[in-house]
Amino acid sequence: MAIWRSRPLVAALATLIAAASIVSADVYFEERFDDGWENRWIKSDWKKDENMAGEWNYTSGKWTGDAEDKGIQTSEDYRFYAISAEFPEFSNKDKTLVFQFSVKHEQKLDCGGGYIKLLSGEIDQKKFGGDTPYSIMFGPDICGYSTKKVHAIFTRDGKNHLIKKEVACETDQLTHVYTFIVRPDATYSILIDNNEKQTGSLYSDWDILPPKQIKDPDAKKPEDWDDKEYIPDPEDKKPEGYDDIPKEIPDTDAKKPEDWDDEEDGEWTAPTIPNPEYKGPWKQKKIKNPNYKGKWKAPLIDNPDFKDDPYIYAYPNLRYVGIELWQVKSGTLFDNILVSDDPEYAKKLVVETWGKNKDAEKAAFDEAEKKKEEEESKADESDVDAEDEDEAEDDAKSDSDAEDEKQTHVKFSLSRVPDEL
Ligand SMILES: *[C@@H]1O[C@H](CO)[C@@H](O)[C@H](O)[C@H]1NC(C)=O
Repeated sequence: MAIWRSRPLVAALATLIAAASIVSADVYFEERFDDGWENRWIKSDWKKDENMAGEWNYTSGKWTGDAEDKGIQTSEDYRFYAISAEFPEFSNKDKTLVFQFSVKHEQKLDCGGGYIKLLSGEIDQKKFGGDTPYSIMFGPDICGYSTKKVHAIFTRDGKNHLIKKEVACETDQLTHVYTFIVRPDATYSILIDNNEKQTGSLYSDWDILPPKQIKDPDAKKPEDWDDKEYIPDPEDKKPEGYDDIPKEIPDTDAKKPEDWDDEEDGEWTAPTIPNPEYKGPWKQKKIKNPNYKGKWKAPLIDNPDFKDDPYIYAYPNLRYVGIELWQVKSGTLFDNILVSDDPEYAKKLVVETWGKNKDAEKAAFDEAEKKKEEEESKADESDVDAEDEDEAEDDAKSDSDAEDEKQTHVKFSLSRVPDEL
């Protein structure tokens, strides 16, 4: 009877909770790149006078789960990209902040970013670029074999603070959704495709504030602190005569050769062989030190330089999202950008967009790869006959490849060094 009665109550409660969470969801910005997106975004003139500003392609890409679901994709190699959109200014003080977007690197990204920024205050969007101050930067960054990570940067007083924990990013050529949740209790979570990859505290995982506690700089290791874990065993004594055992002994089986001439060859002595009794230099056995106290560590004290800021996570006038990238190889496609206060809403959006399309996208990608392989093997076959003539050409080509490589590095360091990295 009691069970029967409790059921409708639980159901009613669940409905109430669901309704409450829908009501409370604040969406500050949501961009699915439907028709009219160009009215909401402003392309910056940054790098235009140097002819280094790349064009965005409005497309769903070469492989997609839904050809009608378009985003914006970088379309020119060796170019800078800067574009931004404004939303009604808000503060995330005392609120959860959810920053989310999807990104697909169709070009097999070998060096470049796929991150987005949140900016505050007043910005000349026509001049938005690498030097424009931002509040938060979030998303994947790939360069060579060593950098394959998710950036999560907070700017405070003009300083960029990078996350201290490694968060690995996705490296394939498919769409993935990156979510950054920052809560008013100064905790955070980083999700990829709705799976939590990292979580913790802004206090410990960034150096935004000095540490709460430090090692006492005045503390000294006590004189009698025994930090030797092992000591020689006083019971272990060197056996009598140990050092008199020779390393080598005469070979008793050796015989003086028949044709040995003492006068001409000198006096015959038997060759030596290793002495089986010889055990090397004597070493005293070691035992655990009964007085071992462990490694000495200075005690922690409250850091006099620490001044708590309970709003370490807060930005009072967030107002723009901006994409600002350098791309050696283009093909990075952004979609479904969300700025909200509701992780549940964000989660649902991931399911409705990426979740709905990911299998079809994977199938389309596999199909495209198959086609590419077939074309390549066909090209290889027709190459065989012409191989000899090609050789000289190949040499010339590899020279210009090396030149390309050099250029890449020069431009790469130019763009990255003055940036936040
Ligand atoms: C835009 O993307 C589509 C799909 O990948 C491609 O066919 C087209 O050539 C691209 N356009 C430009 C200008 O890059």
